[in-house]
Amino acid sequence: MQQDDIMEQLLLDLFSKYPAGKKEGLIPILQEIQEEKGSLTGEILTAVAQHLELPVNKVYGVAAFYNQFLFRPHGAFHIQVCDGTGCHLGGSVSLLTAVEKFLKIKAGNTSRDGQFSLEAVPCMGACDQSPVISINGERYPRINEEELRKIIGVIKEKKV
Ligand code: FES
Repeated sequence: MQQDDIMEQLLLDLFSKYPAGKKEGLIPILQEIQEEKGSLTGEILTAVAQHLELPVNKVYGVAAFYNQFLFRPHGAFHIQVCDGTGCHLGGSVSLLTAVEKFLKIKAGNTSRDGQFSLEAVPCMGACDQSPVISINGERYPRINEEELRKIIGVIKEKKV
């Protein structure tokens, strides 16, 4: 089955689960598509808007408002740099800047080769270990720029 057919089938399944014109279905539909596809496209948002009888810009606005919805899929290695107050005071800004330079991507983006994505996130709940980062869900507490460069360097050599 081709990607377009898979997407079409997913939408048909979701649209039979969440009735047409019921606005309450918006977030759950977007969540299920996000989970299944990894990101949302303009085509998807338009189809959802038509099904729920909502303006496309409203659907886009909701998707853009919540961090959980992506318009580009995460990279194979998703790096999150905590920018909560504790980590901010602990140097998260320079850490983030260093990763941006090292990977040549800005926070909120994915590298062209799809290997890395970078995101600044709110408190990860480990403020006593600031600054904290996470790579694909694995946390690295009290990390400094040099350690982070080494970790990323090792990942770069592995390439998936
Ligand atoms: S501020 Fe970074 S873990 Fe809380």
